Amino acid sequence: MKTENTVWHHTNVTKAQRATLKKQKPCLLWYTGLSGSGKSTVANAVDALLFERGHHSYLLDGDNVRHGLNGDLGFSDTDRIENIRRISEVSKLFIDSGLIVSTAFISPFAQDRAMARELLDDGEFIEVYIDTPIEVCEQRDPKGLYKKARAGEIKDFTGIDSAYDVPESPEVHVETAKCSIEECAQQIVSYLEQNGYLGTK
Ligand code: ADX
Repeated sequence: MKTENTVWHHTNVTKAQRATLKKQKPCLLWYTGLSGSGKSTVANAVDALLFERGHHSYLLDGDNVRHGLNGDLGFSDTDRIENIRRISEVSKLFIDSGLIVSTAFISPFAQDRAMARELLDDGEFIEVYIDTPIEVCEQRDPKGLYKKARAGEIKDFTGIDSAYDVPESPEVHVETAKCSIEECAQQIVSYLEQNGYLGTK
């Protein structure tokens, strides 16, 4: 818990210096979308493209982070809010270290995504809406979870008996049912290029 005795310690090396060294503008690609929409797949493809180009990036993936840092959280509204809060704070630290960070979480509530945006400086938060119709996600059903949710074996499943707030004005709108993974990844990298995040290598 933060008290009046908790003081912020300033560091000698600044975020700007780290960014200059890495020749990039640190930012957060915040992927949001339904389970099975392709968030992790597209985020991984983008991460690989950035790596190939010599950029310094890191991907925080919902399924993986829920094994460790957020292993104590479930899927109630309260737990999802805490999940997103912790990820936002971790992302802020990673951005401070100069990285291009990607997070792949359903992050169903607009209010929590707004909180993540507010935590960062202007231009650092890039909302990437992985817009895949639920029918397509359900047909893909890579982990067999929609089948279980329909059978009532999983409760509070996003899109079935738990809400998903569609992003109103995402920076990038990706439709995985219409484009290949490579095209979707390229669309995101192009956004970074066109908006000056990738500097000159
Ligand atoms: S979030 O809502 O808190 O952002 P997060 O992205 O971390 O969710 O985790 C979602 C992943 O957990 C899904 O891709 C799926 O594999 C799994 N999962 C298990 N139970 C649920 C559930 N009730 N609702 C959504 N996803 C679930």
